[in-house]
Amino acid sequence: MGILLRDVALTYLPGTPMSREVLSCIDLELEAGEILCLVGRTGAGKSTLVHIMGGLLPATCGEMALDGKSLDGRGGMRALRSAVGVLMQSPERQLFAETVEKDVAFGPRNRGVRGEDLAAAVRGALASAGLDPEEYAFRPPFSLSGGEMRRAALAGVLAMRPRYLLMDEPSSGLDLPGRRLLYGILEKQREQGVGILLVTHDWDEVELLADRVAVLSQGRIPLQGEKEAVLAAAGELEAAGLRPPAMVAVLAELRRRGLVFPACLPSPAEAARLIDGALKGAGR
Ligand SMILES: Nc1ncnc2c1ncn2[C@@H]1O[C@H](COP(=O)(O)OP(=O)(O)O)[C@@H](O)[C@H]1O
Ligand SMILES: [Mg+2]
Repeated sequence: MGILLRDVALTYLPGTPMSREVLSCIDLELEAGEILCLVGRTGAGKSTLVHIMGGLLPATCGEMALDGKSLDGRGGMRALRSAVGVLMQSPERQLFAETVEKDVAFGPRNRGVRGEDLAAAVRGALASAGLDPEEYAFRPPFSLSGGEMRRAALAGVLAMRPRYLLMDEPSSGLDLPGRRLLYGILEKQREQGVGILLVTHDWDEVELLADRVAVLSQGRIPLQGEKEAVLAAAGELEAAGLRPPAMVAVLAELRRRGLVFPACLPSPAEAARLIDGALKGAGR
């Protein structure tokens, strides 16, 4: 089960003087029930990749599959759109209806859901997105805080009950409580078997949530794998234009001074234990 990309490439405006290859040789798999973090500097092609995986933009070439079924052309994009929910960058800008309820109902209504089924879908989606339906359903979107707007937009995505969620920098601009709420929602979706691609710039977020990490750099994926291994690959992260997590830099510096640590990235508590042990071992 998953969304599979093999040797996918994307060229904007192919065959014109403006032609620009933005993604190439993309091999990536998003599995059900995992959080895969996608990191990369601005302009690396992250949003473009999200659009391709969400069936919103056709790849120029390459192969894709959804839950083991190979995807082709328009039918393939339709299949993706029905299985995958996409929360775009700054989704609150897309809230448009007079009330939160109407906004969240838009997707399922388009699919023909009506009456009590529709009301239940909206209530369920609002609750899943951390918004009490009693309190929020009839409020106009513009009266919400930034974090609430983000969750209302997410409710609109969840109302379609997607099997996969693609989240394009969902925590940017959120304060800590807003982020914590979002993380809780993502963890719950993962528990329910939803596969989540999370685009982020925040190493703490990666540390907290990721099962695996893929690094995108100039339209390619030079590095992907288990979180601990990717976060510890300081040289490769730097080559991709990313500053490695502070913890990795500290441990690298301690290593240079002769203290021995495992290569993977420890949690803060584990790092403190390792450093304490190493200092004691060094006779200090
Ligand atoms: N519709 C488009 N037409 C032409 N170029 C585009 C288009 N959308 C994005 N690009 C270019 O593709 C590159 C990757 O953009 P994007 O996928 O938004 O990267 P990221 O999300 O990592 O910042 C950028 O250089 C951007 O200017
Ligand atoms: Mg982007």
